[in-house]
Amino acid sequence: MTEQERIYYLREQLHQHNHRYYVENNPIISDQEFDFMMHELQDLEARHPELYDANSPTMRVGSDITKEFKQVSHKYPMLSLANTYNEQDVEEWYNQVKRGLEGEDFEVCCEMKYDGLSISLTYEEGRLTQAVTRGDGVHGDDVTTNVKTIRSIPLVLQPGLGYPANFEIRGEILLPWDNFNRLNEEREEIGEQPFANPRNAASGTLKSQDSRVVAERGLDAYLYYLITPQGENSDIPPYHYGSLETSKKWGFKVSEGMKKVKTLQEIYDFINYWDTERKNLPVATDGIVLKVNSLRQQRHLGFTAKSPRWAIAYKFKAERVCTRLQEVTYQVGRTGAITPVANMETVQLAGTKVRRATLNNEDFIRSFNLHEGDWVYVEKGGEIIPKIVGVDESRRESNAKPVTFITHCPECGAELRRIEGESAHYCPNDTGCPPQIKGRIEHFIARKAMNIDSLGPETVDLYYEKGFISNIADLYTLTVPQLNYEGSREKSARKIINAIEESKKVPFERVVFALGIRMVGETTAKLLARHFKDIETLRHATVEQLTEVEGIGEIIAVNVIAYFKDEKNAEIVNRLISYGLQMSISKEMMTNKGNALEGKNIVISGVFTHHSRDEYKLLIEQYGGKNVSSISSKTTFILAGDNMGPSKLQKAEKLGVQIVSEEEFLEMIGGDNATTESSQEQQTEAAEEQPQKKSSNKPIQLELF
Ligand code: IVH
Repeated sequence: MTEQERIYYLREQLHQHNHRYYVENNPIISDQEFDFMMHELQDLEARHPELYDANSPTMRVGSDITKEFKQVSHKYPMLSLANTYNEQDVEEWYNQVKRGLEGEDFEVCCEMKYDGLSISLTYEEGRLTQAVTRGDGVHGDDVTTNVKTIRSIPLVLQPGLGYPANFEIRGEILLPWDNFNRLNEEREEIGEQPFANPRNAASGTLKSQDSRVVAERGLDAYLYYLITPQGENSDIPPYHYGSLETSKKWGFKVSEGMKKVKTLQEIYDFINYWDTERKNLPVATDGIVLKVNSLRQQRHLGFTAKSPRWAIAYKFKAERVCTRLQEVTYQVGRTGAITPVANMETVQLAGTKVRRATLNNEDFIRSFNLHEGDWVYVEKGGEIIPKIVGVDESRRESNAKPVTFITHCPECGAELRRIEGESAHYCPNDTGCPPQIKGRIEHFIARKAMNIDSLGPETVDLYYEKGFISNIADLYTLTVPQLNYEGSREKSARKIINAIEESKKVPFERVVFALGIRMVGETTAKLLARHFKDIETLRHATVEQLTEVEGIGEIIAVNVIAYFKDEKNAEIVNRLISYGLQMSISKEMMTNKGNALEGKNIVISGVFTHHSRDEYKLLIEQYGGKNVSSISSKTTFILAGDNMGPSKLQKAEKLGVQIVSEEEFLEMIGGDNATTESSQEQQTEAAEEQPQKKSSNKPIQLELF
């Protein structure tokens, strides 16, 4: 056998053994033999770079080549499922399907709802060519290199199995419980924050820039949705269940415990069985998915804007446990907001150890009349952070003291303030309180802000402790010799300095976001940047000018003004200008792309597929139009997505205003040319710092969990 033949032989053998081990759970050779073959292949491949194969089994071990993930558009949008929480909801869905099918018989395929992150895999001629995350459903991250390290995902399918030349298969990537627990133990040992749940761990792992890390962590994947371009393919049964059975034959690990049923009672039985049995599964599940089995019937039922009518998710009830409150501690966030945290006796809840839960704010504590040493009920639903949902007052000791909110900052001792109308307490010492200073720097360097990714929270901490940096502007004064203080860090010091230098090219909108102005999240920063166009105009804007911008209310305006009025901030901004950061909107944004919309007043309404609302606003401006907020006789047309409100529709009809669909609009401005600089904006405003409304019991995200 020549070396070339040996390479081909080993690749084929390793693909097969891999499948037996990771998908079938039925290996026929020892781990040692497997490793031996893998090493031999690695050596041979190193000697024969001309025989490179992107899908070789050696790709499973990963590499440390750092690269940004490329954003790609999904060929078919990745929709989510409507959720139901009880039997009545399930019955309602079942009856809707029945009505939709006009009494025709139908089968339902019941399967597990996996709690990981969704992935779409593309195969061409039997080879995995692309793996993309869900992203915003329309565009996702290309994580192919990382996904190739997941051993249960076939890189090359066995020939002759009748799969189509091109197909997509979707499923969920998960970190099995065992691997998750081991990972968290290791993290705790080395003083790193454990992951809150396997979903976060899987997501953090998949987004890692080092595919060797991904390979080591041991992710797994279950596939639950096959999409073939021709729709019905002669070799694939025209049924969901059958298509997954077929996918299994091609080498995929498919949803466990799938069952075809007909009646509502059978659905309930399936739900009840798995509600307890799921605890024995190796991976996290959070419900059951019900899908109409016939693909023909699925097509007949169709989709709403967000989800298929032919499928629904039933979410298991959140698990609840009772444990004892030991102590309330307080965290200080980047903006000085104080978050009380309940530290409890450790309990096992929904597969993870829980010992901390957010208490949100003073009103939340009061609403439970929380006392020291109370027995509290803790729940973990879909949310990441466990929450306290009640107190067992009957177990309260008679001399227990009520929990009282602190009056001074636990970090710097400053007296806390509570702003009228808001429920959070704040530490006002923003320039002298360490977590606030460090938090602001961490926010500044974050991926969505200045993207200085060679710096992380630990390095920020270190440089702050060493006195190298005490505000965001100081980052630009760092030098290689200063960071190479131990004489052995030249390479990483250089990398950091380069990344800081590189950040000077980050567009103005993100600089505005990076400043960390209270309540100015990504979207608001864009609105401000696009409206005021440069820092000088923005920093001198009045409340009136600020509130003129659609989407900017008085509270945000006041915060913007307060930020720039502060002398220390003003000095920081001056320094950032002098270091050469982008302080005005880029030419690309200002350029007029055409005048197709000149003189037109356009209202945007509904939910869109191709671009976000902000992108449409920008496109309207770039093509000479004006985006107006309400419909009047002056409105030229309404750019309407899905779910446009009925009152708007009525008004449009009454005034005879034309309704234009997304596609028609894009056509109007020149079809494919109509791209904006970022198509990634369909994110929610969740990341924005919204004020906590008085008495809101909504849990807020803590960095710590
Ligand atoms: S089917 C068009 N099946 O749940 C329908 N989804 O909100 C495609 N999920 O984003 C989805 N287990 O990540 C389907 N057995 C299963 C699932 C499942 C988990 C996830 C998926 C999706 C979310 C739905």
